[in-house]
Amino acid sequence: MEKIVINGGNRLHGTVKISGAKNAAVAIIPAVVLSDGICRLENIPDIQDVNLIARILEQMGARVTKPEKDVLEIDPRGIREPVATYDLVRHMRASSYLLGALLGKFSRAEVALPGGCDFGVRPVDQHLKGFGILGAKHSVEGGMIKVKADKLVGGHVYLDVVSVGATVNIMLAAAKAEGRTTIENAAKEPHIVDLANFLNSMGADVRGAGTDVIKVNGVKRLGGTTYSIIPDQIEAGTYMAAVASAGGDVMITNVIPKHLESITAKLREMGVIIEEYDEAVRVIRNNRLRRCNVKTMPHPGFPTDMQPQIAAILTMADGTSIVNEAVWDNRFRYVEELCRMGAEISVDGKLAVIEGIDQLKGAPVKATDLRAGAAMIVAALGASGTTEIEDIRHIERGYENVVEKFKGIGADIKRVYTNDPVIQTA
Ligand code: UD1
Repeated sequence: MEKIVINGGNRLHGTVKISGAKNAAVAIIPAVVLSDGICRLENIPDIQDVNLIARILEQMGARVTKPEKDVLEIDPRGIREPVATYDLVRHMRASSYLLGALLGKFSRAEVALPGGCDFGVRPVDQHLKGFGILGAKHSVEGGMIKVKADKLVGGHVYLDVVSVGATVNIMLAAAKAEGRTTIENAAKEPHIVDLANFLNSMGADVRGAGTDVIKVNGVKRLGGTTYSIIPDQIEAGTYMAAVASAGGDVMITNVIPKHLESITAKLREMGVIIEEYDEAVRVIRNNRLRRCNVKTMPHPGFPTDMQPQIAAILTMADGTSIVNEAVWDNRFRYVEELCRMGAEISVDGKLAVIEGIDQLKGAPVKATDLRAGAAMIVAALGASGTTEIEDIRHIERGYENVVEKFKGIGADIKRVYTNDPVIQTA
């Protein structure tokens, strides 16, 4: 079993470079399916989720090479059958993007129901509603979602909830459909804009991404391209939270400060000093953090994927804070782990009330999902004593070289292998 072991209390200092955005990469890699040529993708993070989605394309017949550490070249022309089985897709949520991409390319697709982080019911009704408006029928058989259209024709889709996944999937299905598709109440996350820019670089006609109305004028053919994906907003936010937790002075590079605004605003409210540069932010924390309230919202609101990390630092702020999780139903499973470190948190439905204490104390904890795992690291860096984090495979799904990067800014952190027998109780 692998664990991350952190001795807390070191102030962080130096420079850390952020990798390409996971959530952009896992949308753009499936989008390559739509192309009739080779796509070179740059600034690709070396993380499990990305390697998995690339492997899924490879097993479906694409040729995938990695000419450089952060570059993938994908030739999708060998994909003949638009089918992704459970064996291939069960570990990742974003495999549902294959539905839109394969449907857009072949007018039909079969993809197993997706896995990924477990924080409540994760429906795909809005994805299917969008496909339906474009003329595709769907069914669920043997754990596979099947979608099929005689011909995809653009239409007017009004999303009932702001969904990143549905917005991505409808953009993918619409890129080569006949006529115009309009997506209203669309998600506005930076990776939606990145996907639109990528599709346009292949020859698509997508307008309005980044606003809540996206218009996709279908084109007949999409070709090869070279594209560099955006830096990871959430990875950057996690390092910002880590400095807030441990204290110190760190320059975080390869970021787009505009994407970090909601995180920057909250950290400033807590007393953290943040200086913004063209492609970097400098984060300085010297004094005790102040309490604040946080409500997660779709972009440009505070991202739900930063909720566990911000809660981790609020446990050591001066006063009582309220965290309102307004995107997911069940995203407080990590709270139990923070309480093992001495945090005082009570949860009532979508609200967590956090009574700040002076300092957390190291303890054995688990990464219950990707961002919960990141929150354990953030908490451990500011805690006294030693924290051992189990189930780190979740963390490695989304953070490139996490141990090495934290070590580089002065953290006492290591990955260890143990032969502990796993004792299971009912
Ligand atoms: C994406 C992110 C995830 C992030 C989330 C919200 C990726 C790979 N994952 O997930 O990290 O936490 O956005 O920012 O980019 N919903 C429905 N019906 C649907 C689809 C969604 O009711 O058909 C609801 C969900 O239950 C949830 C909300 O809409 O309450 C937002 O979900 P969505 O934006 O779709 O999240 P994902 O795309 O799965």
